[in-house]
Amino acid sequence: MPLVTSTDMFARAYEGGYAIGAFNVNNMEIVQGITEAAKEEKAPLILQVSAGARKYASHTYLMKLVEAALEDTNLPICLHLDHGDTFELCKSCIDGGFTSVMIDGSHLPFQENIQLTKRVCDYAHAHGVVVEGELGRLAGIEDAVNVSEEDAAFTKPEEVEEFVQKTGVDSLAIAIGTSHGAFKFKGKPRLRFDILEEVQKKLPGFPIVLHGASSVIPEYVDMINKFGGSMPGAQGVPEEMLRKAASMAVCKINIDSDLRLAMTATIRKYHAENPSHFDPRQYLGPARAAIKELVRNKLIHVLGCNGKA
Ligand code: G3H
Ligand code: 13P
Ligand code: ZN
Repeated sequence: MPLVTSTDMFARAYEGGYAIGAFNVNNMEIVQGITEAAKEEKAPLILQVSAGARKYASHTYLMKLVEAALEDTNLPICLHLDHGDTFELCKSCIDGGFTSVMIDGSHLPFQENIQLTKRVCDYAHAHGVVVEGELGRLAGIEDAVNVSEEDAAFTKPEEVEEFVQKTGVDSLAIAIGTSHGAFKFKGKPRLRFDILEEVQKKLPGFPIVLHGASSVIPEYVDMINKFGGSMPGAQGVPEEMLRKAASMAVCKINIDSDLRLAMTATIRKYHAENPSHFDPRQYLGPARAAIKELVRNKLIHVLGCNGKA
């Protein structure tokens, strides 16, 4: 099956009250762990690539890895650029075979965000590619950009209709209190579901995206802490909150940190228990298996998209 856009996935997810997992990839073991789980659970899938990941692995290698995953799984897979920050980067991914791009103009003044997003939409749509825009700013670290918590601004529901109408964007990422990385909340986790509800009222049937949606699973944080790491205060979005968001207008849930934690924890444990081993397959194999189990749990217990491919 060739790569698909997210249009049909989102329409069905909105209708069915579930969400599609958008998992960040940058190497073979991560692609394999995710896609093996999705294959076994018959789940539609978004694989997403950040600018940093594309630089690390190269466009060509990532395309070939995803091509291999398509051949192996025969699943509907959408290949998405995560946090594109320029028209040129989006264009390069569109020209290079991606089926979806995000243009993240959330740091720009409203009208400039509209202009940039519209420019990307016009080009993408002419090439059969869909676009995710963003309104509101997440706290935390996005690639090279460090958005301080003080600067974080929740999405203003009164802006969403104008933004969607003037840009022609196909989905919208909003800020309701999540942040990127492993340190999401200082105290009790709290998401502004009232904002999500308002946005849903303004844009009935329109797919919303939730970034910063890792749960920062304590089992992996504990493992990292036990085997030489130090991550005091790591905290993610509770799974029941993600399930609630998926039952509302959220159709795409972005997960990267959970994959990183599972991989790193497994590798740390392996080396602690096998100090004389040095064949990368010996520790990358278990890391890939940990990613697979993590993704399987997400598909079934958090996103609810198992069996929907
Ligand atoms: O939203 C950010 C993603 O976790 C990608 O992170 O830019 O370090 O690849 P990265
Ligand atoms: P996490 O850091 O919570 O995994 O968020 C990933 C993300 O939003 C990618 O765009
Ligand atoms: Zn993000």
